[in-house]
Amino acid sequence: MLKGFQNSPELNFSIPEHKEAMLMAFKEVDQEKGQDYPLIIGGERIMTDKKIVSNAPSTKEVLGRVSSCDQLLADKAIRTAHDAFQTWSKTPVEERICCVRRLVDLMKKYRYLLDAWSIEESGKNWGEADGELCEALDFFNSYIMHMRELDQGLELVYTEESCKCIYIPIGVGVAVPPWNFPLSLLAGMVVSAVITGNTIVCKPSSDTPIVAYKFIELCEKAGFPAGVINFIPGSGSVIGDYIVQHPLTRFVNFTGSKEVGLRINQKAAQVSEGQIWIKRVVAEMGGKNAIIVDSSADLKRAAAGIANSAFSFQGQKCSACSRAVVLSDVYDVFVEEIIACAKVLKEHQGSGRDDFPMGPVINQSAFNRISGYIETARKEGMIAFGGNYDDSKGFYIEPTVVRDITKDAVIAKEEIFGPVLAVIRANSFDEALEIANSTEYGLTGSVYTEDRTHIQKAKAEFHVGNLYFNRKSTGAVVLQHPFGGFNMSGTDAKTGTKDYLTNFLNLKSVCEDL
Ligand code: SER
Repeated sequence: MLKGFQNSPELNFSIPEHKEAMLMAFKEVDQEKGQDYPLIIGGERIMTDKKIVSNAPSTKEVLGRVSSCDQLLADKAIRTAHDAFQTWSKTPVEERICCVRRLVDLMKKYRYLLDAWSIEESGKNWGEADGELCEALDFFNSYIMHMRELDQGLELVYTEESCKCIYIPIGVGVAVPPWNFPLSLLAGMVVSAVITGNTIVCKPSSDTPIVAYKFIELCEKAGFPAGVINFIPGSGSVIGDYIVQHPLTRFVNFTGSKEVGLRINQKAAQVSEGQIWIKRVVAEMGGKNAIIVDSSADLKRAAAGIANSAFSFQGQKCSACSRAVVLSDVYDVFVEEIIACAKVLKEHQGSGRDDFPMGPVINQSAFNRISGYIETARKEGMIAFGGNYDDSKGFYIEPTVVRDITKDAVIAKEEIFGPVLAVIRANSFDEALEIANSTEYGLTGSVYTEDRTHIQKAKAEFHVGNLYFNRKSTGAVVLQHPFGGFNMSGTDAKTGTKDYLTNFLNLKSVCEDL
């Protein structure tokens, strides 16, 4: 354990005061529903005619309308951030840290309200929302600790010369966070950029712009000077390429789909007129994660862990399990066990606000995509459980287990990002590893086994950024499981670490002959 660091404890909603406070927060959200929200550029609030409508996935209710940025305003935001960089980059580290510490306090103070907005906009349940808030706090506290260390510079050998190596900020960053962790990933991207002395232009997901706005408001309250953190919701097709290609953009931090991540990487590599640096790209792009169930595994434990990994937050985590690779001799028993788990979840599916274990998927287009994959699954294998979907009141899809899927099937290859689990048969542990590794992704993986030799083999050969044993593949905890993937899952920038911060710093080597 790192000295002085403690992970933030989650709220316990079985305690009446916690539950009561959450219900009060929903009342506050209800009173605010239907409002319009502005962009924030250099502290100025700018209301645009064009709006992004934020809907609750649980009920389709309109939660609010958020201003939508065009290219002209995006240019203004990047130039404003560039101006603010001139002073913020020279602001002492301890002063920057003071702002982050105040932000930690404010996040705790407004915790229930942030959780409530996150639940309404993303459809997640209370525990998932508060877990995310804790992850954000853990990011902040870890970055404070790491930034202090980095501020000491790099340790060098002693010579007759006076040498030092110092970390310096690099410029304006563009943050493009996802909707599935609308608070923690956005907050982590913003704070990692500004604690290192950079300034940021944040384009939140159009599915969760209100919780993003609430967070940016707290950043202002925490005392970050105007222009250091700018907020520009907008359509990807209108401003996406523009903000990546802007000559003053120094780095891009993205989490989302492989297609968008690769496009960002390509656009960022093209040098725009007036640009005098190579842009850095940090991208986290998803997965097709597998959990192996070995012959020696405790099958009940494996089924519980896999059900949690595949169906919590409706399978909409990049770390979610979408392939169970099961040894032939335990295949049928495992299928029965996973069906039993899915059955319990199906009986407890409902709105995030009512704190059901399983809720809706994020929006109509996700609903259409996932239900399309379920139809493909019907042809490629056998639906052993679930398979029904209903978008009449919200975007609900049953936890779905598909058996007799081969490793080359579409649903064994493509990222579905929904509550659909393919159960694939393997004849040996070696074959199970080969199947697990047979996609273009490499984010998370897990193995349920009691066999030490197999554990050693998987440690060496299972090619994923986050590997777990006898545990679910989701729920990485800051500084316990640094998170980031291999291959098409991204650039393996492990969030929450000191290395992560160096993505946003240059190392300057200074030497003076005495
Ligand atoms: N870090 C999350 C998890 O581990 C996914 O982004 O589930």
